[in-house]
Amino acid sequence: MIPEITKRFSPTTFTEQTLTEEQLTILFTAAGRAASSFNEQPWRFIYALKQDKEAFNNILDCLVEGNQEWAKNAAALVITVSKKTFTKNEKPNPHNRHDLGLAVGNLSAQATAMGLHLHQMGGFSAEEAINNLNIPEGFEPVTAIAIGYYDGEFVEKPRKAVEEIMFKNEWK
Ligand SMILES: Cc1cc2nc3c(=O)[nH]c(=O)nc-3n(C[C@H](O)[C@H](O)[C@H](O)COP(=O)(O)O)c2cc1C
Repeated sequence: MIPEITKRFSPTTFTEQTLTEEQLTILFTAAGRAASSFNEQPWRFIYALKQDKEAFNNILDCLVEGNQEWAKNAAALVITVSKKTFTKNEKPNPHNRHDLGLAVGNLSAQATAMGLHLHQMGGFSAEEAINNLNIPEGFEPVTAIAIGYYDGEFVEKPRKAVEEIMFKNEWK
């Protein structure tokens, strides 16, 4: 397997090291290279760097308490957002969240290659994110992500055996 996959895991501690705008631009450029249904590119990313205290806290405030406790030490926080309809006809896009996930997968691989770690979160208030961050109608906040450097041990979470997730020819 490629190291961008084997080295990835979600830490709950981060070093003090900050991130630059340029690094975030690389991460989101990688995200934007993902495939998407009808090339809609439904993903959007609202981010704040730790050094921009007010903006950082604005995102931090959206997280549930248990996530705030460790995510406050991240170098950057992100709210991922997805557009619910196709722009060409405003019909529902049933794959919008799938495609956002692909974009985050790219971002994750790029971050890992840059020596960074992500920790994605579902534990946040979408309502607060919409209000605090000015998210327009038709767009949905989907996850929060903490990004930063980690200098501890690799922590491997248990995985399903590959035989449990691959079925030859039919469901077994
Ligand atoms: C959509 C999504 C939501 C998640 N929500 C949370 C969360 O709210 N809090 C948390 O601590 N971890 C959260 N996680 C992290 C998962 O618990 C973690 O990815 C999983 O246990 C596998 O561990 P690993 O990423 O280190 O391999 C979330 C991950 C994803 C992809």
